Order: sequence, then C-alpha cells, then structure tokens
Amino acid sequence: MQFKQQALLRQKLFVLASLAVGSLLYLVVRVGSLDRIQPVCPLEGRIGPRIPEQIPLRTLHFKRGLLHELRKGNATKEQIRLHNLVQQLPQAIIIGARKGGTRALLEMLNLHPAVVKASQEIHFFDNDQNYAKGIEWYRGKMPFSYPHQITIEKSPAYFITEEVPERIFKMNSSIKLLIIVREPTTRAISDYTQVLEGKERKNKTYYKFEKLAIDSNTYEVNTKYKAVRTSIYTKHLERWLKYFPIEQFHIVDGDQLIINPLPELQLVERFLKLPPKISQYNLYFNATRGFYCLRFNIVFNKCLAGSKGRTHPEVDPSVVTKLRKFFHPFNQKFYQITGRTFNWP
Ligand code: A3P
Repeated sequence: MQFKQQALLRQKLFVLASLAVGSLLYLVVRVGSLDRIQPVCPLEGRIGPRIPEQIPLRTLHFKRGLLHELRKGNATKEQIRLHNLVQQLPQAIIIGARKGGTRALLEMLNLHPAVVKASQEIHFFDNDQNYAKGIEWYRGKMPFSYPHQITIEKSPAYFITEEVPERIFKMNSSIKLLIIVREPTTRAISDYTQVLEGKERKNKTYYKFEKLAIDSNTYEVNTKYKAVRTSIYTKHLERWLKYFPIEQFHIVDGDQLIINPLPELQLVERFLKLPPKISQYNLYFNATRGFYCLRFNIVFNKCLAGSKGRTHPEVDPSVVTKLRKFFHPFNQKFYQITGRTFNWP
C-alpha cells in the first residue's frame, strides 16, 4: 500500500516537473522569436537604412568625440598636433536673413562630414568692438577641424549691416555666401514674435504687430520698422553686390527647408562643391516637434531648440495683404537678380 502511494507521488512529481520544463522551453522559444515579429512600425522605417558607407565613420566619430572634447577644453595640445587639427577662417558664411532658418541650415549642413560649424553667432563683422579685436581673434573663435574640412559660421545680422560686405571682402574676396529667405511677410511676423517673446519674458508689454508694421498716420507700410526693412531682401543684396559677384551667393528657400529640407541641402552641397553626403537618413520628421530633426548616426540625433518654431500671433488679414502687396515689387527684383523664383504672393 505504502509502495503504491510512493509510486503515485513520484508520478505526480514527474508530471509537475515536465510541466515546469515545458513552460520554460516555451518561454525560451517565445522570447527568442520576439525579434522576428514584424513591428507595427517596421524597425527599418524607424532607424533608417544602415549608415551609407561613403560617410566616413571616423569623421562622424570625430564630430562627437574629439571635437566635443575640444569644445569642452579637454583635448590636449598633443591630440591637436597628432590629428593635424587647425582653426580655419570660414570658407562660407550664412549671412542671413534673421528668422529665415539660419540655425536649421547651419545645423543641417553640419551633418556633412566635411563641414564644421562655429556653434555660436560670432558677430565679428557687424560689431565694431569685435571687429577691432582683429582677424586672429575671429580665427580663435572658430572650431578645430581637419585641413580638408570647411568651416561655416552664421551671423544673420551680417546681411543687413552696412559695413559688413566690405569687411568680409577684405578678409576673403572669394568667400561663399549663403542667404536663407522665407516669404517676407511670414519672416517679418516671425521676427516680431521673437522680440515679443523677449518682452514677455521680462514682463513687459509690447505693441501689436499691426501697430508696428503700419504707419498710423498714413496707413501705409511702416518702412522704418526693422522687421519690415529686413524682409526687403533685394535692397540688402544690392549693397552686397557692390563687393561680390552674384555667383558667390547661394539663396536657400527657408520655407522649403522647413517642409522638405533635403533638396535644399543638396543644392548647397553643390554650391559648396562638396560631395553629396547628406541623405534622407540624416533627417527625420518629428511629429511632436512639428519639424525635421537631425540624425548623425544610430545613437546620436537631435532637434533644434524650442525657440525655433514658435507659434506666430494672429495678424489682421488686411495687414498681411497690405504687406504682401508692398513686398511684391521688391520680390520680383530679388528673383531677377538671384535667378531663383519663389512664387511668394
Ligand atoms: P519660426 O520660429 O517663425 O517658426 P533662425 O534660425 O534664422 O532664427 O530661423 C528660425 C526659423 O527656422 C523658425 O521660425 C522655423 O520655422 C525655421 N526652421 C526651419 N527648419 C527648422 C527645423 N528643422 N526646426 C526648427 N525650426 C526650423
């Protein structure tokens, strides 16, 4: 009898153990197969294709590695000498226009392995105090780069400041100049929005855009208002053309850079005589941000700061119409000079 009970117990234990081992095996197989399950959004779509081989990984690594250390001041003189790094004067400058998308353009061009950006706006040519410090001060503000790379800086105030074309010409008469423009009225409103935000941050009140853009006596467009003047692109460009031929300028469509950046960047690559390296892989649309963001490699990506892409205030439609009518003849002249038509209203 006791023997029978023991046999029954052994049998039960055997069944339990079999069940445990079976469950364990099932789990192992199930987890192992997880990476073969088709995700709702395929992984390929989320991480993009493998980094194209033509992008030298060493340079990408350099941009996040040694260059980063250099910025923090951690790289030794020995490392700089060993890597043959230099601080070069810019071979191309994004001269404006303010609120045209100058930061996005600089950051996106910096995706190119042969481009190194000056992170800060240096304001060397538009600020008399800085300019008085001399060209070596300016060079000292430039990032370290390999000799084959090109350095780009952006200071949007250059475009509208009287003295700048001559000063840049004196530094390098064959420099390449990039101008990024948006539909002039939208740019003016964006300009206003930035100033308004600054005032609000200091708890100050500010005029409405309509009051600044329209002369309250004549009801005409107020050409004394800086945000309006900056959008008269042709007037500024004409001053630059006294020093540089039009071939040294490239006009970037800032409205297109927002909605479809790659074609604009490819045009810039061609203008700068760079091999085409920036690809769709490097740019992905971030729905939360509402803008394209940058992907350097599988681990490093970034979006522009929140100060880029503000919500504009509502503007009286009759004021918008008036401004668009005002800018129209200047736009026509701008298209004529630059050979780029934007179909602005
Ligand atoms: P808004 O703030 O009016 O939308 P700048 O860098 O010259 O100040 O230009 C700022 C503008 O860049 C922003 O204007 C925004 O529309 C535009 N922009 C273009 N591409 C962008 C991007 N990928 N992310 C954020 N802003 C971008």
